[in-house]
Amino acid sequence: MTKPRILVARAIFPDIVERLRAHFEVDDNPEDTILTPAQLAARMADKDGAFTTGSERIDANLLAAAPRLKIVANMAVGYNNFDVDAMTAAGVQGTNTPDVLTETTADFGFALLMATARRMAESEHFLRAGKWTKWSYDMFAGSDIHGSTLGIIGMGRIGQGIARRGAHGFGMKVIYHNRSRLSAALEAECKATYVGKEALLRTADHVVLVVPYTPSSHHTIGAAELALMKPTATLVNIARGGIVHDEAVAVALRERRIAAAGLDVFEGEPQVHPGLLNVPNVVLTPHIASATVPTRRAMADLAADNLIAFFEGRGALTPVNTPVAGAARAG
Ligand code: GLV
Repeated sequence: MTKPRILVARAIFPDIVERLRAHFEVDDNPEDTILTPAQLAARMADKDGAFTTGSERIDANLLAAAPRLKIVANMAVGYNNFDVDAMTAAGVQGTNTPDVLTETTADFGFALLMATARRMAESEHFLRAGKWTKWSYDMFAGSDIHGSTLGIIGMGRIGQGIARRGAHGFGMKVIYHNRSRLSAALEAECKATYVGKEALLRTADHVVLVVPYTPSSHHTIGAAELALMKPTATLVNIARGGIVHDEAVAVALRERRIAAAGLDVFEGEPQVHPGLLNVPNVVLTPHIASATVPTRRAMADLAADNLIAFFEGRGALTPVNTPVAGAARAG
């Protein structure tokens, strides 16, 4: 029996590619070239499945160019690189990697919050530049984490993980805003109180963003929202580029309308708005919230397992859509 053909669109752990080769004819990308939409379409033309990482856009044009494609397994919990409606209508299964990265990403969100509030990047740059010649009472004085008010926008699994860390580990008062309210049991476990978005922005000492990117979450934080925040507040984005209006944040940081920001994701990444590169009161990291070796392996394993289970007829393990039955795919 011939094996299904898959594209592994980016470089991943070589042993996981080898595991896939036991099940599939694999076209991989060990050089880790970023494929243009045209290159991706050409490589997908004869493929039954694909392993993607979030940098490959799966839309109607791509689906039209890939008539055999039946599943795309994203190695990410977020899947805003998928046009889910187009995939569903075309009968193409999409999958993501939830759960396996929750705690690691919550750890990072908390680390970025602490680095931001306690001015770690700014002070490290100062030290490395040889500017540390004497101690002074207000040198890099930041804001407290313990006992402060943590505002979380987006209270899915990762938001809840951050809430638990804040409430149980640091005695923070946790408020949150989400599309839907958590159950009373989950609110109690996270020690979190539901509030409106405006109340959260006005009250929180630290605002952490963990919402999925959708057209309705685009620019959740722009100039108007920044104007509501306390001048002493910090803003942390570990969600997606586009949730924050990067230019507006750069201006707010420069004009000290908020104290500091910690950003792991950017509009148009890997490009970063030049205004953010020129202000000192921001911690910038290159989209690494889930980047520990065990978690990145677990994500890659889960994406691979989704492909294997699907082609063995067991169904995708972590589907993001229910493809229209009968939408004919070739092969
Ligand atoms: C990373 O950003 C992810 O969505 O997993």
